[in-house]
Amino acid sequence: MFKTIEWTAQGVLMIDQRRLPASETYVTCHNYGEVAEAIQNMTIRGAPAIGVAAAMGVALGVKDSPANAASGLRAEFETIAAAISSTRPTAVNLFWAVGRMRRVFEETMEMEAPEAAKIRAAKERLVEEAQLILAEDIAINKAIGKNGAALLNESMTVLTHCNAGALATGGYGTALGVIRAGIAEGKQIRVFADETRPFLQGARLTAWELAQDGIPVTLITDNMAGHFMKQGTLQAAIVGADRIAANGDVANKIGTYSVAVLARENNIPFYVAAPLSTIDLSLSSGDQIPIEERAANEVTHLSGVPIAPGNIEARHPAFDVTPHRYVNAIITEGGVAREPYTESLKALFPYGNTSS
Ligand code: MRU
Repeated sequence: MFKTIEWTAQGVLMIDQRRLPASETYVTCHNYGEVAEAIQNMTIRGAPAIGVAAAMGVALGVKDSPANAASGLRAEFETIAAAISSTRPTAVNLFWAVGRMRRVFEETMEMEAPEAAKIRAAKERLVEEAQLILAEDIAINKAIGKNGAALLNESMTVLTHCNAGALATGGYGTALGVIRAGIAEGKQIRVFADETRPFLQGARLTAWELAQDGIPVTLITDNMAGHFMKQGTLQAAIVGADRIAANGDVANKIGTYSVAVLARENNIPFYVAAPLSTIDLSLSSGDQIPIEERAANEVTHLSGVPIAPGNIEARHPAFDVTPHRYVNAIITEGGVAREPYTESLKALFPYGNTSS
């Protein structure tokens, strides 16, 4: 089984998701700038995987810092955190991970110890914390899977959009984790994967990782989902999320909103599977979620080949927001939340929410 991301002695190792499925290649990021670039250019993508990469980028930057005074290291931490935080705006897991690393850094710097010892300890503890975030993410996905599998029928076909699988996380996946858990429980689950224009995460990544696992998958273009729902081929839709507001509005890959509306029209449950680190209770509604606008040439070109007249205007919002009224349940490691989300999501955080 492939590894999405890993800490190594040479740096942060990632499977290059831009090159899948044509080639399974790995890249090593040797410094935090390279990690930031890998997040920005989609070498690694998917909210939880971006969070892990962000944590590892911070750890790498602090580890390599030449600063020999606490004040210098603190200034460097902020430079690194700012570089990582400016890569992609929508997935809150990135900001959650940087915040978690900042808390560990501050705790270490407040220790009663000589400066040199504190600096050494900060470097070590941040590397450990980043590796812990990765290990926890996999365990969290297994818990999400278990909670979500209870919602699946004994035999069914599920639609998914984008890639919310092992490639989008530390491993196992959120939406695809639910499917993996259902299959592990003996359920007969088949998947329909939306190709997910324009970046093709469904065609290139979801189809690839499910096929690797021997999970039956059928690829469709995004505009076919309504047809298959109406025909009775699909019995549920499950997607991941990049940020969930306090009222249950869900930001996820562009096209998710259309899937949710179609699912409601066809009486099919629409589920969102995500870790608690994707929930941002500081935002009262999805209108406040920043939506990344990516380059228009990702719409006008396919693998570098133009598919539209030259100089045509194009737009590429990378995410949309699905209003909570279309979401039948939000599946997390802490349990399954349903309407009214303002109450059910808050109840998942007895000790407060630190996502942003
Ligand atoms: O632009 P991407 O590929 O990073 O977008 C990914 C998604 O929208 C996923 O559905 C989401 O991050 C959840 S991944 C478990």
